[in-house]
Amino acid sequence: MEAQQTFSRFCPKHPSLPLPSHKKFQTLPCAVPKNLGIQRLCCSYTEGNNKRVFCVSRTVVDEAKNVKGEAATPVRRKKLAVFVSGGGSNFKSIHQSSLKGSLHGDVLVLVTNKPDCGGAEYARNNGIPVVVFPKVKDGSDGLSPSELVDTLRSLQVDFILLAGYLKLIPVELIRAYEKSILNIHPSLLPAFGGKGYYGMKVHKAVIASGARYSGPTIHFVDEHYDTGRILAQRAVPVLANDTAEELAARVLKEEHRLYVETVEALCEERIVWRDDGVPLIRSKDNPNEFS
Ligand code: GRF
Repeated sequence: MEAQQTFSRFCPKHPSLPLPSHKKFQTLPCAVPKNLGIQRLCCSYTEGNNKRVFCVSRTVVDEAKNVKGEAATPVRRKKLAVFVSGGGSNFKSIHQSSLKGSLHGDVLVLVTNKPDCGGAEYARNNGIPVVVFPKVKDGSDGLSPSELVDTLRSLQVDFILLAGYLKLIPVELIRAYEKSILNIHPSLLPAFGGKGYYGMKVHKAVIASGARYSGPTIHFVDEHYDTGRILAQRAVPVLANDTAEELAARVLKEEHRLYVETVEALCEERIVWRDDGVPLIRSKDNPNEFS
């Protein structure tokens, strides 16, 4: 099934109904998400002595009803695991938006390599179980990669959100959660990413480079640092007299908004994979718009 997106003319009888023009009629190179319906529309009109009849397919998005007019199955609330190594301000903003109800998902578990970090403390204070991964040196706590996969599976976790988690994600977890692990990075990837680019080092490097824009990137996670498919970005200006701390604070503010918005889209099943492997977000307001 393909979503046909680009139309060049419109039906003379029904101007809202676009006519297909084979040259320009393109297919959007992406898989259609489950909640996009394909509606077949037919139109006939007279051109000279010829009566022309044609049909077009177009995507129809209707959250309440499917194409046949039956009530659509509501999108299931998603189960989330958040991985944190530090203060956890992104984790907190995701958790808060879940409590407020704007996020259609719940944080079931907090995974950390630093059981005393701010994020873990917040989790414990809010009744969210804390799991230690990987094993802490000289500590009895901590799971192996396969135990972590089993734990997340037993909790029926749908998505994993890395939010300032500084350890590399083991391949077992990446295979078990294909296209389901997101990370947030505080620069516009692929610039200023990879091993060694974390925390203030990123912002110092941005300022030293003379770049006029920085900002957060949210990407899917693969076996390497910061190389997975980019899902969302937001530009933040770098000001002439910025210190790394000032830039970090400006970027972090935007991180909170962008991560929440992106996780909302993830939980609402609004991520669409283009044929070339690039993930897109379908707009909530205009279902035919992707970013
Ligand atoms: C953020 O800047 C994020 O982009 C990076 O680590 C930092 C985590 O900050 N991956 P916080 O713990 O969410 O406050």
